[in-house]
Amino acid sequence: MANNLLKGKKGIIFGALDEKSIAWQVAERCVEEGAEIVLTNAPVAMRFGGIQQLGEKLNAEVIPADATSIEDLENLFTKSMEILGGKLDFVLHSIGMSLNVRKKKEYTDLKYEWMQKTFDISAISFHKLMQTAYKQDAINEWGSILALTYIAAQRTFPDYNEMAESKSLLESFARSFGYHWAKKANVRVNTISQSPTMTTAGSGVKGFTDFFGYADKMSPLGNASSEACADYCVSLFSDLTRYVTMQNLFHDGGFSSMGMAPEILED
Ligand SMILES: NC(=O)c1ccc[n+]([C@@H]2O[C@H](COP(=O)([O-])OP(=O)(O)OC[C@H]3O[C@@H](n4cnc5c(N)ncnc54)[C@H](O)[C@@H]3O)[C@@H](O)[C@H]2O)c1
Repeated sequence: MANNLLKGKKGIIFGALDEKSIAWQVAERCVEEGAEIVLTNAPVAMRFGGIQQLGEKLNAEVIPADATSIEDLENLFTKSMEILGGKLDFVLHSIGMSLNVRKKKEYTDLKYEWMQKTFDISAISFHKLMQTAYKQDAINEWGSILALTYIAAQRTFPDYNEMAESKSLLESFARSFGYHWAKKANVRVNTISQSPTMTTAGSGVKGFTDFFGYADKMSPLGNASSEACADYCVSLFSDLTRYVTMQNLFHDGGFSSMGMAPEILED
């Protein structure tokens, strides 16, 4: 159901790899709501992902950018403003990758070189893209910047490994940079803490399928889907949420407020 909530707005969506990606769903919903977008992902994702097809479907330009590279980000923001014909109204950061998780390193035996790379990709890239956009004055007044996160930033989920610290850092960047963006141009910065979702990044976490079922039972509304997350992103990019900033917003079917769910004991 489209309501033209983003009519006339322009944005950049980071992180659509394939149809399962949360960013993929967000891109589709934003265009459905009248936005014009540029899609971006790491150069390597151009080769094996489906982002080019998504670009064709949505009539959106695809610009490769490694989100850890300032040079790539500068090029991305400059080109996006040229293509879209002006400053941007919204940006989605939907990027996460842990080298230690990928290489099956346990939390008590982490390689620190990889941990630093993980933080750079999954969290510092958020600061880097905001700082690049800030310096280029690339975001319109009352714009909206969002990143996706997970509740392991606040609570312990042992198999989430070093991504827990990545998400804590990411959420902190939203609060700190949110102040500066608000003062500069009334731009808001928030993170959405999403339910476990069956995607490439999600299913990389050990025991993900069992955990997905556990979270679904713990959440009175059930796990929130990536389509529902896309709806929530649209609301936060729209003019209906202009005074929401520097927040970590749970989009998790109630999971974060639960202590005990009788459904778990029934098995
Ligand atoms: N899937 C879940 O269970 C879940 C839950 C809560 C939050 N999240 C978060 O949602 C976001 C999106 O993940 P997803 O689940 O859609 O998985 P996904 O694997 O589809 O998306 C992750 C994206 O990060 C991109 N990426 C990796 N390194 C990059 C780099 N150097 N530069 C630019 N892009 C890079 C990948 O190409 C990919 O498109 C992540 O931040 C993830 O942590 C996911």
